[in-house]
Amino acid sequence: MPRDVFTPDGARAVTAVAPAKINLHLGVGDARPDGYHDLLTVYRAVDMWERVTVSFVGDGGGASGAAGRGGASGAGARGAGPDDDEITVTGPGAPQVPTDRTNLAARAVDLLREEAGSDARIAIRIHKGVPVAGGMAGGSADAAAALVATDRLLGLGLGRAALEERAARLGSDVPFCVRGGTALGTGRGEELATLLHARAEQHVVVALADDGLSTPRVFAELDRLRAERVEPEGAARAGAARSLPRAGGVEPLVEALAGDDPAAVAALLANDLEPAALSLRPALRKTLRTGQEAGALHGMVSGSGPTCLFFCSDRDHAIAVAAEISESGVAREVRVTRGPVGGAHIVSDDPSG
Ligand code: C5P
Repeated sequence: MPRDVFTPDGARAVTAVAPAKINLHLGVGDARPDGYHDLLTVYRAVDMWERVTVSFVGDGGGASGAAGRGGASGAGARGAGPDDDEITVTGPGAPQVPTDRTNLAARAVDLLREEAGSDARIAIRIHKGVPVAGGMAGGSADAAAALVATDRLLGLGLGRAALEERAARLGSDVPFCVRGGTALGTGRGEELATLLHARAEQHVVVALADDGLSTPRVFAELDRLRAERVEPEGAARAGAARSLPRAGGVEPLVEALAGDDPAAVAALLANDLEPAALSLRPALRKTLRTGQEAGALHGMVSGSGPTCLFFCSDRDHAIAVAAEISESGVAREVRVTRGPVGGAHIVSDDPSG
C-alpha cells in the first residue's frame, strides 16, 4: 500500500560499498535451456570494494525527506524519473562502464524505485575498486551496493533476505555480493548457503589484465570446448581422458576451509571456466606461470577471467609474490587482497551528500 517515504534523519545521499568475489571452486554444468549453466561454487568476498552513492536530484524528495510516492507515481510521472537520472562512474576502467539504464546499479535503483512506487529522480555515483569485466563481479557489486543504498534512501527497509531476492533478479553473482563472507552457491549461483566455519584469513595476489573478458563469451567458449572434446560413442570410454576435466565435488574444499592451512586449501581450488578463459586469452598462461614461479601456493583464473589469482600462505608471502609478478610486467596492475570480508553495507548516510 502506498505510504510516504522518508529517508532517515532527512538524509539525502546514501553511500554503500560491496565487495568483489572470487570463486574458490567453480564447477560449471552443461548449458540449460534458459542459456544459463548450473553452478556449484564456493564464493569468497575479498577486500576490494565498489562504492555507490545514491542521492535525490532536485526536488525529488531531498530536504523534506519525502520521496514522491503514492498519487505522484501515476502515468506521466516517469517523465521526471529514471531517464533523467545522472549516472557517473569514476575510478580505473570507468570509461568501459555503461552510463545508461543497462548499468546494473541503475537497474537496481529502478527495481526498488518501482517497488516503492516512487518517481523520485535519483543520481547514481559509482566508484570502481574492482576490475571491470575482470571475473570478480565488479558490476554485480555495483548492483549490490546500489540495492542496499537505495533501500535506505527510499526508506524501504527490506532487510537482507528480501534484498538478496531482488539481487537474484539482477544477476547471478549479485546475491553473493550482498551477503559476502564465504558461501556455497548453487542454481545459477544465486542460491546461497553461508559457510560459517570458513573464517580463516586468506591472502591472495590479484593480477589484473589489460582488457576485460565478456562472461557470456567465456561460458560459450567452455560449451564449445566441451562439445569439441566429446568422443564418438564407443571411443568415449577409451578416450575419456581427452574430455575436459571437471571440477568435481566440493566437500574436500569445504572441509579444508574449516582449518587454518592455506596450502591444504590451495591444493583444492578449481575453476571449470579456466580452460575457456585461457583459450580466449592465451597470454594468461604466462601470467599463471609467472605467479607459480614466484612461489605462489596456487595460481588460477578468477571466475571468467581475465584476472588471475595467486594464493599465498600469509601477507608477507603475498607481498613477495606480488612484487615478482609486478616486476615481470605480465600484468597491468598487481594487488594484494584478503578474504573473507563482509557483504554490501552502508558507509555513509550523509544529509549533505
Ligand atoms: O547472471 P548474469 O547476468 O551475471 O550472467 C551473465 C552471463 O553469464 C549470462 O548471460 C550467461 O551467459 C552467463 N552465465 C551462465 N551461467 C551462470 C551464470 C552466468 O551461463 N550460472
